[in-house]
Amino acid sequence: MYPAGDLAAAEQRLRDFLIGRFGGPQRYIEQRGHPRLRMRHMPFAVDAAARERWLHLMANALDEVKLPADADALLREFFDGVSAMLINRPG
Ligand code: HEM
Repeated sequence: MYPAGDLAAAEQRLRDFLIGRFGGPQRYIEQRGHPRLRMRHMPFAVDAAARERWLHLMANALDEVKLPADADALLREFFDGVSAMLINRPG
């Protein structure tokens, strides 16, 4: 689903969004404006399976980086909630 050959730019957008969302520099909003995540995900077929896959990959990433337990739990909860809201196709 992600742009072939330009994963770095997608990674940057997600990174900047998360940094801003959790109190860091507002680079995402400066460059992209209001996140409008539901709208921005509409072109992509996000069904329950895509959500599970995305959550699984993010969980792998979190396992790998071993953040402090409170930050880890906060991010997992955040991803769980937002990803549910982004489902835009019947499964
Ligand atoms: C539910 C499963 C999800 C799928 C399948 C998915 C897929 C995608 C895809 C294909 C893109 C386009 C890549 C790009 O060019 O930036 C994207 C963008 C993005 N996604 Fe997701 N995503 C999911 C969940 C999430 C969640 C949970 C968040 C936030 C916590 C998130 C945040 C973002 C952001 C910030 C962008 C960049 C939007 C922009 O500025 O254009 N996504 N996502």
